[in-house]
Amino acid sequence: MTTVLVTGANRGLGLEMVKRYAARGWRVHACARDTAGLAGLATGVVAHRLEVTDQAAVKALAATLAGEAIDLLINNAGVSGHEAGTLGTLDAAVWKRTFEINALAPLLVAEAFVEHVARSSQRKLMAISSRLGSIEQNSEGGRYAYRASKTALNMAWRSLAADLRGRGIVCTVLHPGWVRTDMGGKQAPLSIEESVAGLLATIDALGPADSGGFRNYDGKPLPW
Ligand SMILES: NC(=O)c1ccc[n+]([C@@H]2O[C@H](COP(=O)([O-])OP(=O)(O)OC[C@H]3O[C@@H](n4cnc5c(N)ncnc54)[C@H](OP(=O)(O)O)[C@@H]3O)[C@@H](O)[C@H]2O)c1
Repeated sequence: MTTVLVTGANRGLGLEMVKRYAARGWRVHACARDTAGLAGLATGVVAHRLEVTDQAAVKALAATLAGEAIDLLINNAGVSGHEAGTLGTLDAAVWKRTFEINALAPLLVAEAFVEHVARSSQRKLMAISSRLGSIEQNSEGGRYAYRASKTALNMAWRSLAADLRGRGIVCTVLHPGWVRTDMGGKQAPLSIEESVAGLLATIDALGPADSGGFRNYDGKPLPW
């Protein structure tokens, strides 16, 4: 059976991913800090309580799922760090927490689950990044912690792609578009359904030759 693991699965983009993969008949490990809404969501969905920055909890979940093959792992959990994002409002604690969640946690999850992914048939290790992490596309400034954390995530994924190429694991960072979630806000142009449909089609089409890339939700490559 094809298996996917999604973090930040209780709302926004992550919840829609869970619903769509479950509708395909996949086994879905839905990880969230609050799993109340995930229990009994759909057949094949297994909810796991997970704070992604808790390395011991990440390792414990990997041990619980030891021996299982995970075809697709999507590091989706993230925060905006908006409460201290502009020059004049910078706050060290918010900056560190934003980095911990957006840049470090996905790498810790990847490290803990690399053997689960390696033993699967699809072998895809994804992270939801952001166009705001593109250095080349940053002409507007601001959003310091968020932008820098996603740039760091992108760099970590480039290293993962190089380190895991020999094992046939596809490592890609994906921009979901600007989406009407709690994070994206009501003024965003894309619905959750449009974004996630695009992300799933893009992930489906990825092969080993694409590893190490940065893709938009519609599949187009993005500049670093
Ligand atoms: N929406 C956009 O326009 C947009 C654009 C570019 C990139 N993205 C990226 O897309 C991803 C999903 O964002 P979204 O728009 O769906 O945001 P969202 O609606 O705010 O959802 C964020 C999710 O991340 C989870 N999360 C945050 N910190 C966590 C932690 N420490 N441990 C476990 N889970 C944690 C949240 O769980 P709780 O409910 O427990 O807080 C929630 O499930 C993020 O990585 C975001 O940066 C979004």
